[in-house]
Amino acid sequence: MAVNRPLIAGNWKMNGVRANLAEIDALVAGIAGADCDVAICPPATLISEAAGRAGDSGLMIGGQDCHTAANGAHTGDTAAEMIADAGGKLVIVGHSERRADHGEGDALVRAKAEAGWRAGLLVILCVGETEAHRRADQTLDVLSQQLAGSVPDGATADKLVVAYEPVWAIGTGLTPSNDDIQAAHAHIRGELVARLGPEAAGIRLLYGGSVKPGNASEILPLPDVDGALVGGASLKAADFLGIIAAAG
Ligand code: G3P
Repeated sequence: MAVNRPLIAGNWKMNGVRANLAEIDALVAGIAGADCDVAICPPATLISEAAGRAGDSGLMIGGQDCHTAANGAHTGDTAAEMIADAGGKLVIVGHSERRADHGEGDALVRAKAEAGWRAGLLVILCVGETEAHRRADQTLDVLSQQLAGSVPDGATADKLVVAYEPVWAIGTGLTPSNDDIQAAHAHIRGELVARLGPEAAGIRLLYGGSVKPGNASEILPLPDVDGALVGGASLKAADFLGIIAAAG
């Protein structure tokens, strides 16, 4: 584990209804004394009630995406300000499912990150290569391009977290080797420091892609891994708490 305080963040994606908020209650009970920061990003419909249940427990609630505008004629979208108003403390931007399903590119992701900051949210910005990139040995080049295009100027450790999520590892049960995860994270940290200065070493780098209680104890101790962004294993508090335990 790197020197930065770990963050274990859960991304429920388009899963969960009010009945699932019992998992938030179980997390609140389970994270007391945890030696890391913990967040859950439920569907937008559940942010307000999840934030209410989290209260002052330290469990942060966030959104999975935001629009670039603060309000206006954007049917179906959610402003970062609305996430904050609902009690959210953070927002994910640039997830590969947004990039693939909605054609989001780096310039838009950058604008969304800036919108998150405008609303006072911590931004988790996702990058990661596809299987085709990996096979073509383009992983580090793709990461460099995504970081250059999507990380706004002025990024600091209190405003930005970067999540490395290889697209081919999401929801597949596959993960890169520990050496490959460490190499990607070291590359990302190097790129951020080269552009933003030495203090950018404090920007936390999360690994995401098939993180489970069973592999977290191998991934989280890697030198440049500051935590995890977890999908499927964040849906059940018992699984997520197993990952949180590995970060402590
Ligand atoms: O954002 C987290 C995610 O993409 C990873 O999903 O289900 O592979 O942990 P999963």
